[in-house]
Amino acid sequence: MLLGRAASSIINHKPSYQGTVPAIMTLNKIPTKDRESFTEHLKHSTRILALCGAGLSASSGLPTFRGAGGIWRNHEATSLATPEAFEADPALVWQFYSYRRHMALTANPNPGHFALAELARKRSQFVTLTQNVDGLSQRASHPASQLHLLHGSLFDVRCTEFYCDYSERDNFTDPIVPALAIPKGSSQPLPSIADNTGEEASKSLAAAMQGNKASQEGKELDISDAGIPIPRISPEELPQCPKCQKGLLRPGVVWFGEALPVKTMSAVDKFVEKSDIDLMLVIGTSAMVWPAARYVEEARSRGARVAVINMDKQDGKRNLTKRDWFFHGDAGTILPDILSPVIGDISA
Ligand code: APR
Repeated sequence: MLLGRAASSIINHKPSYQGTVPAIMTLNKIPTKDRESFTEHLKHSTRILALCGAGLSASSGLPTFRGAGGIWRNHEATSLATPEAFEADPALVWQFYSYRRHMALTANPNPGHFALAELARKRSQFVTLTQNVDGLSQRASHPASQLHLLHGSLFDVRCTEFYCDYSERDNFTDPIVPALAIPKGSSQPLPSIADNTGEEASKSLAAAMQGNKASQEGKELDISDAGIPIPRISPEELPQCPKCQKGLLRPGVVWFGEALPVKTMSAVDKFVEKSDIDLMLVIGTSAMVWPAARYVEEARSRGARVAVINMDKQDGKRNLTKRDWFFHGDAGTILPDILSPVIGDISA
Protein backbone atom coordinates (compact mmCIF):
# COMPACT_ATOMS: atom_id res chain seq x y z
CA MET A 1 0.00 0.00 0.00
CA LEU A 2 1.28 3.45 -0.87
CA LEU A 3 1.96 5.69 2.09
CA GLY A 4 0.74 8.76 0.22
CA ARG A 5 -2.90 7.77 0.45
CA ALA A 6 -4.98 10.27 2.37
CA ALA A 7 -6.10 7.78 5.01
CA SER A 8 -2.54 6.76 5.85
CA SER A 9 -1.21 10.31 5.98
CA ILE A 10 -2.97 11.10 9.26
CA ILE A 11 -0.45 11.40 12.10
CA ASN A 12 -1.30 9.03 14.90
CA HIS A 13 0.11 6.87 17.63
CA LYS A 14 1.10 3.43 16.46
CA PRO A 15 -1.34 0.90 17.92
CA SER A 16 -0.33 -0.79 21.18
CA TYR A 17 2.17 1.91 22.13
CA GLN A 18 3.87 1.34 25.49
CA GLY A 19 6.00 4.20 26.84
CA THR A 20 9.59 3.51 27.80
CA VAL A 21 12.06 5.28 30.03
CA PRO A 22 15.31 6.04 28.19
CA ALA A 23 18.40 4.25 29.45
CA ILE A 24 21.17 6.10 31.27
CA MET A 25 23.31 8.04 28.78
CA THR A 26 26.12 5.65 28.04
CA LEU A 27 28.10 5.19 24.87
CA ASN A 28 28.84 1.59 24.15
CA LYS A 29 31.80 0.70 22.01
CA ILE A 30 30.63 -0.49 18.63
CA PRO A 31 31.48 -4.19 18.18
CA THR A 32 34.10 -4.60 15.42
CA LYS A 33 31.96 -7.11 13.54
CA ASP A 34 29.07 -4.62 13.36
CA ARG A 35 31.30 -1.73 12.39
CA GLU A 36 32.93 -3.73 9.58
CA SER A 37 29.72 -5.08 8.11
CA PHE A 38 28.02 -1.69 8.32
CA THR A 39 30.96 0.10 6.70
CA GLU A 40 31.04 -2.41 3.88
CA HIS A 41 27.32 -1.99 3.24
CA LEU A 42 27.41 1.81 3.58
CA LYS A 43 30.20 2.15 1.03
CA HIS A 44 28.12 0.33 -1.56
CA SER A 45 24.83 2.01 -0.70
CA THR A 46 23.51 4.65 -3.06
CA ARG A 47 19.79 4.83 -2.29
CA ILE A 48 19.62 5.62 1.39
CA LEU A 49 16.72 6.76 3.55
CA ALA A 50 16.90 8.15 7.10
CA LEU A 51 14.06 8.61 9.57
CA CYS A 52 15.01 11.02 12.37
CA GLY A 53 13.31 11.78 15.66
CA ALA A 54 13.76 13.88 18.74
CA GLY A 55 16.77 11.81 19.90
CA LEU A 56 18.83 13.39 17.10
CA SER A 57 18.44 16.77 18.79
CA ALA A 58 18.77 15.46 22.34
CA SER A 59 22.47 16.18 22.55
CA SER A 60 21.72 19.73 21.38
CA GLY A 61 19.80 20.02 24.65
CA LEU A 62 16.25 19.69 23.32
CA PRO A 63 13.85 17.39 25.16
CA THR A 64 12.34 14.29 23.55
CA PHE A 65 8.59 13.66 23.53
CA ARG A 66 8.30 10.41 25.40
CA GLY A 67 10.00 9.30 28.57
CA ALA A 68 11.52 11.64 31.13
CA GLY A 69 11.76 14.76 28.93
CA GLY A 70 8.23 14.53 27.62
CA ILE A 71 6.42 16.40 30.38
CA TRP A 72 5.78 20.16 30.14
CA ARG A 73 4.15 21.78 33.16
CA ASN A 74 2.52 18.49 34.16
CA HIS A 75 1.16 18.02 30.63
CA GLU A 76 2.39 15.24 28.41
CA ALA A 77 3.97 17.02 25.47
CA THR A 78 1.98 14.83 23.10
CA SER A 79 -1.32 15.89 24.72
CA LEU A 80 -0.59 19.53 23.83
CA ALA A 81 0.10 18.62 20.20
CA THR A 82 -3.54 18.29 19.14
CA PRO A 83 -6.10 20.56 17.48
CA GLU A 84 -8.38 19.83 20.44
CA ALA A 85 -5.83 21.17 22.93
CA PHE A 86 -5.46 24.36 20.85
CA GLU A 87 -9.22 24.76 20.61
CA ALA A 88 -9.61 24.31 24.37
CA ASP A 89 -6.72 26.52 25.47
CA PRO A 90 -4.85 28.33 22.68
CA ALA A 91 -2.85 30.37 25.18
CA LEU A 92 -1.44 27.27 26.91
CA VAL A 93 -0.61 25.59 23.59
CA TRP A 94 1.03 28.77 22.28
CA GLN A 95 3.03 29.08 25.52
CA PHE A 96 4.27 25.51 24.97
CA TYR A 97 5.20 26.19 21.34
CA SER A 98 6.71 29.59 22.08
CA TYR A 99 8.90 27.88 24.68
CA ARG A 100 9.92 25.23 22.14
CA ARG A 101 10.68 27.89 19.50
CA HIS A 102 12.85 29.70 22.02
CA MET A 103 14.65 26.50 23.07
CA ALA A 104 15.27 25.51 19.45
CA LEU A 105 16.60 28.95 18.56
CA THR A 106 19.01 28.95 21.47
CA ALA A 107 20.22 25.38 20.74
CA ASN A 108 22.84 24.52 18.14
CA PRO A 109 22.99 21.65 15.66
CA ASN A 110 25.19 18.81 16.92
CA PRO A 111 27.65 16.59 14.99
CA GLY A 112 24.81 14.17 14.18
CA HIS A 113 23.00 16.87 12.17
CA PHE A 114 26.25 17.84 10.43
CA ALA A 115 27.08 14.20 9.62
CA LEU A 116 23.71 13.66 7.92
CA ALA A 117 24.08 16.92 5.99
CA GLU A 118 27.49 15.81 4.77
CA LEU A 119 26.18 12.37 3.78
CA ALA A 120 23.51 14.16 1.71
CA ARG A 121 26.23 16.07 -0.13
CA LYS A 122 28.19 12.86 -0.74
CA ARG A 123 25.20 10.74 -1.79
CA SER A 124 22.71 12.50 -4.05
CA GLN A 125 20.17 9.71 -3.52
CA PHE A 126 20.19 9.98 0.24
CA VAL A 127 16.91 11.37 1.57
CA THR A 128 16.24 12.31 5.19
CA LEU A 129 12.74 12.25 6.66
CA THR A 130 12.65 14.14 9.89
CA GLN A 131 9.91 14.24 12.46
CA ASN A 132 11.75 17.10 14.15
CA VAL A 133 10.35 20.59 13.89
CA ASP A 134 13.29 22.36 15.53
CA GLY A 135 15.10 23.59 12.40
CA LEU A 136 18.46 22.15 13.51
CA SER A 137 19.03 20.06 10.35
CA GLN A 138 18.41 23.15 8.22
CA ARG A 139 20.84 25.13 10.38
CA ALA A 140 23.43 22.37 9.82
CA SER A 141 23.06 23.19 6.09
CA HIS A 142 21.37 19.92 5.22
CA PRO A 143 20.56 20.24 1.48
CA ALA A 144 16.89 21.25 1.40
CA SER A 145 16.00 19.02 -1.56
CA GLN A 146 17.14 15.97 0.45
CA LEU A 147 15.33 16.85 3.67
CA HIS A 148 11.62 16.30 4.19
CA LEU A 149 9.92 17.83 7.20
CA LEU A 150 7.22 15.27 7.94
CA HIS A 151 5.78 17.15 10.90
CA GLY A 152 6.24 20.73 9.68
CA SER A 153 8.27 23.40 11.43
CA LEU A 154 8.06 25.36 14.67
CA PHE A 155 8.90 28.44 12.62
CA ASP A 156 5.98 28.20 10.21
CA VAL A 157 2.65 29.69 11.22
CA ARG A 158 -0.75 29.71 9.61
CA CYS A 159 -4.21 31.09 10.16
CA THR A 160 -6.79 28.98 11.94
CA GLU A 161 -9.77 30.60 10.12
CA PHE A 162 -11.35 28.07 7.76
CA TYR A 163 -11.61 30.45 4.81
CA CYS A 164 -8.23 32.13 5.29
CA ASP A 165 -5.16 30.70 3.54
CA TYR A 166 -2.56 32.84 5.29
CA SER A 167 0.66 31.07 6.09
CA GLU A 168 4.18 32.22 6.77
CA ARG A 169 7.48 30.31 6.60
CA ASP A 170 10.58 30.80 8.69
CA ASN A 171 9.23 33.28 11.16
CA PHE A 172 12.09 33.35 13.66
CA THR A 173 10.75 36.23 15.76
CA ASP A 174 11.29 35.29 19.39
CA PRO A 175 8.97 35.82 21.12
CA ILE A 176 6.52 35.78 18.26
CA VAL A 177 4.35 38.26 20.23
CA PRO A 178 5.42 40.14 23.38
CA ALA A 179 2.95 38.29 25.63
CA LEU A 180 4.69 34.99 24.86
CA ALA A 181 8.10 36.12 26.11
CA ILE A 182 9.66 33.69 28.59
CA PRO A 183 9.26 35.38 31.97
CA LYS A 184 12.52 36.47 33.59
CA GLY A 185 13.46 37.14 37.13
CA SER A 186 12.72 35.61 40.46
CA SER A 187 13.11 31.84 40.56
CA GLN A 188 10.81 32.01 43.58
CA PRO A 189 7.33 31.10 42.35
CA LEU A 190 5.02 34.09 41.98
CA PRO A 191 1.62 33.70 43.61
CA SER A 192 -0.69 31.65 41.45
CA ILE A 193 -4.35 32.36 40.77
CA ALA A 194 -5.20 29.42 43.04
CA ASP A 195 -3.35 30.99 46.01
CA ASN A 196 -6.29 31.45 48.37
CA THR A 197 -4.26 31.51 51.55
CA GLY A 198 -1.78 34.21 50.56
CA GLU A 199 1.08 31.86 51.48
CA GLU A 200 2.58 31.96 47.99
CA ALA A 201 2.21 35.75 47.84
CA SER A 202 4.14 36.14 51.15
CA LYS A 203 6.94 33.89 49.91
CA SER A 204 7.29 35.77 46.66
CA LEU A 205 7.24 39.12 48.45
CA ALA A 206 9.95 37.91 50.85
CA ALA A 207 12.09 36.78 47.92
CA ALA A 208 11.65 40.13 46.19
CA MET A 209 12.63 42.01 49.38
CA GLN A 210 15.78 39.93 49.68
CA GLY A 211 16.76 41.05 46.19
CA ASN A 212 16.61 37.63 44.57
CA LYS A 213 19.79 36.96 42.54
CA ALA A 214 18.01 35.51 39.52
CA SER A 215 15.79 38.56 39.43
CA GLN A 216 18.79 40.90 39.41
CA GLU A 217 20.38 38.95 36.57
CA GLY A 218 17.11 38.80 34.66
CA LYS A 219 17.49 35.07 34.24
CA GLU A 220 14.92 33.29 32.12
CA LEU A 221 12.68 31.08 34.18
CA ASP A 222 12.22 27.43 33.33
CA ILE A 223 8.54 27.52 32.48
CA SER A 224 8.50 23.82 31.67
CA ASP A 225 8.36 23.48 35.47
CA ALA A 226 4.75 23.74 36.63
CA GLY A 227 6.00 25.36 39.85
CA ILE A 228 6.93 28.49 37.91
CA PRO A 229 3.78 30.52 37.32
CA ILE A 230 3.15 31.75 33.80
CA PRO A 231 1.03 34.78 32.96
CA ARG A 232 -2.54 34.33 31.93
CA ILE A 233 -2.72 35.46 28.31
CA SER A 234 -5.88 36.67 26.62
CA PRO A 235 -6.68 35.55 23.05
CA GLU A 236 -6.11 39.14 21.78
CA GLU A 237 -2.48 38.95 22.91
CA LEU A 238 -1.80 35.76 20.91
CA PRO A 239 -0.47 35.87 17.32
CA GLN A 240 -3.20 37.26 15.06
CA CYS A 241 -3.64 36.73 11.34
CA PRO A 242 -2.51 39.86 9.45
CA LYS A 243 -4.56 38.86 6.39
CA CYS A 244 -8.11 38.16 7.55
CA GLN A 245 -7.58 39.98 10.86
CA LYS A 246 -10.05 37.59 12.45
CA GLY A 247 -8.28 34.32 13.04
CA LEU A 248 -5.58 33.31 15.47
CA LEU A 249 -2.34 32.09 13.99
CA ARG A 250 -1.22 28.61 14.99
CA PRO A 251 2.12 26.81 14.83
CA GLY A 252 2.77 25.19 11.44
CA VAL A 253 3.40 21.76 12.89
CA VAL A 254 1.41 18.61 12.21
CA TRP A 255 -0.66 17.71 15.23
CA PHE A 256 -2.08 14.31 16.14
CA GLY A 257 -5.12 13.57 14.00
CA GLU A 258 -3.90 15.85 11.20
CA ALA A 259 -2.59 14.84 7.80
CA LEU A 260 1.05 15.11 6.84
CA PRO A 261 1.76 17.72 4.15
CA VAL A 262 0.55 16.30 0.82
CA LYS A 263 3.49 17.63 -1.21
CA THR A 264 5.99 16.18 1.24
CA MET A 265 4.27 12.81 1.29
CA SER A 266 4.14 12.55 -2.49
CA ALA A 267 7.81 13.51 -2.83
CA VAL A 268 8.75 10.82 -0.30
CA ASP A 269 6.50 8.25 -1.96
CA LYS A 270 8.09 9.03 -5.32
CA PHE A 271 11.54 8.36 -3.89
CA VAL A 272 10.48 5.17 -2.11
CA GLU A 273 8.66 3.75 -5.11
CA LYS A 274 11.34 4.53 -7.67
CA SER A 275 13.49 1.47 -7.00
CA ASP A 276 15.11 -0.62 -4.31
CA ILE A 277 16.55 1.02 -1.22
CA ASP A 278 19.96 -0.06 0.06
CA LEU A 279 20.02 1.31 3.58
CA MET A 280 17.51 2.70 6.08
CA LEU A 281 18.88 4.71 9.04
CA VAL A 282 16.50 5.01 12.00
CA ILE A 283 17.88 7.75 14.22
CA GLY A 284 16.74 8.79 17.70
CA THR A 285 13.10 7.95 17.27
CA SER A 286 10.80 5.73 19.29
CA ALA A 287 9.15 5.02 15.91
CA MET A 288 5.79 5.12 17.65
CA VAL A 289 4.09 7.64 15.43
CA TRP A 290 2.48 6.78 12.16
CA PRO A 291 2.73 7.23 9.24
CA ALA A 292 6.40 8.25 9.75
CA ALA A 293 7.33 4.94 11.38
CA ARG A 294 5.89 2.96 8.49
CA TYR A 295 8.64 4.15 6.19
CA VAL A 296 10.99 1.78 7.98
CA GLU A 297 8.97 -1.25 6.92
CA GLU A 298 8.41 0.26 3.49
CA ALA A 299 12.18 0.59 3.00
CA ARG A 300 12.71 -2.93 4.32
CA SER A 301 10.19 -4.28 1.83
CA ARG A 302 12.28 -2.60 -0.87
CA GLY A 303 15.32 -4.53 0.21
CA ALA A 304 16.88 -2.07 2.66
CA ARG A 305 19.04 -3.21 5.52
CA VAL A 306 18.14 -1.19 8.61
CA ALA A 307 20.54 0.53 11.04
CA VAL A 308 19.04 1.86 14.25
CA ILE A 309 20.82 4.48 16.36
CA ASN A 310 19.20 4.96 19.74
CA MET A 311 20.07 5.62 23.39
CA ASP A 312 17.48 3.13 24.50
CA LYS A 313 17.85 -0.58 23.83
CA GLN A 314 14.18 -1.31 24.19
CA ASP A 315 13.21 1.34 21.62
CA GLY A 316 16.12 0.60 19.34
CA LYS A 317 15.88 -3.17 19.18
CA ARG A 318 12.16 -3.33 18.55
CA ASN A 319 11.38 -5.20 15.31
CA LEU A 320 15.03 -5.72 14.35
CA THR A 321 15.98 -8.66 12.15
CA LYS A 322 19.29 -10.48 11.78
CA ARG A 323 20.25 -8.33 8.77
CA ASP A 324 19.94 -5.11 10.80
CA TRP A 325 22.34 -3.16 13.00
CA PHE A 326 21.68 -1.58 16.36
CA PHE A 327 24.09 1.17 17.43
CA HIS A 328 23.50 1.95 21.07
CA GLY A 329 24.23 5.49 22.23
CA ASP A 330 24.01 9.17 21.41
CA ALA A 331 23.20 9.93 17.76
CA GLY A 332 25.38 13.05 17.97
CA THR A 333 28.41 10.85 18.65
CA ILE A 334 27.55 7.71 16.70
CA LEU A 335 26.53 9.25 13.36
CA PRO A 336 29.82 11.05 12.59
CA ASP A 337 31.62 7.87 13.62
CA ILE A 338 29.74 5.24 11.60
CA LEU A 339 29.30 7.49 8.55
CA SER A 340 32.98 8.54 8.47
CA PRO A 341 33.98 5.97 5.81
CA VAL A 342 31.89 8.04 3.38
CA ILE A 343 31.81 11.55 4.88
CA GLY A 344 35.34 11.61 6.30
CA ASP A 345 36.19 13.25 9.60
CA ILE A 346 33.71 16.13 9.95
CA SER A 347 35.41 17.46 13.07
CA ALA A 348 38.57 18.16 11.08
N1 APR B 1 20.68 9.70 20.78
C1 APR B 1 19.89 8.77 20.16
N2 APR B 1 18.64 8.48 20.56
C2 APR B 1 18.18 9.15 21.61
C3 APR B 1 18.93 10.11 22.32
C4 APR B 1 20.24 10.40 21.86
N3 APR B 1 21.03 11.28 22.46
N4 APR B 1 18.17 10.61 23.34
C5 APR B 1 16.99 9.98 23.27
N5 APR B 1 16.99 9.10 22.23
C6 APR B 1 15.89 8.25 21.75
C7 APR B 1 14.95 7.75 22.81
O1 APR B 1 15.42 6.52 23.36
C8 APR B 1 13.67 7.55 22.01
O2 APR B 1 13.65 6.27 21.40
O3 APR B 1 15.10 9.10 20.92
C9 APR B 1 13.77 8.60 20.91
C10 APR B 1 12.83 9.77 21.07
O4 APR B 1 11.53 9.29 20.95
P1 APR B 1 10.27 10.25 21.09
O5 APR B 1 10.41 11.10 22.29
O6 APR B 1 9.07 9.39 20.98
O7 APR B 1 10.40 11.22 19.82
P2 APR B 1 10.01 10.94 18.31
O8 APR B 1 10.22 9.53 17.95
O9 APR B 1 10.71 11.98 17.52
O10 APR B 1 8.46 11.26 18.33
C11 APR B 1 7.78 11.25 17.11
O11 APR B 1 5.83 12.15 18.15
O12 APR B 1 4.89 13.65 19.60
C12 APR B 1 5.13 13.36 18.30
O13 APR B 1 5.16 14.81 16.46
C13 APR B 1 5.91 14.44 17.58
O14 APR B 1 7.64 14.25 15.94
C14 APR B 1 7.17 13.73 17.18
C15 APR B 1 6.72 12.30 17.08
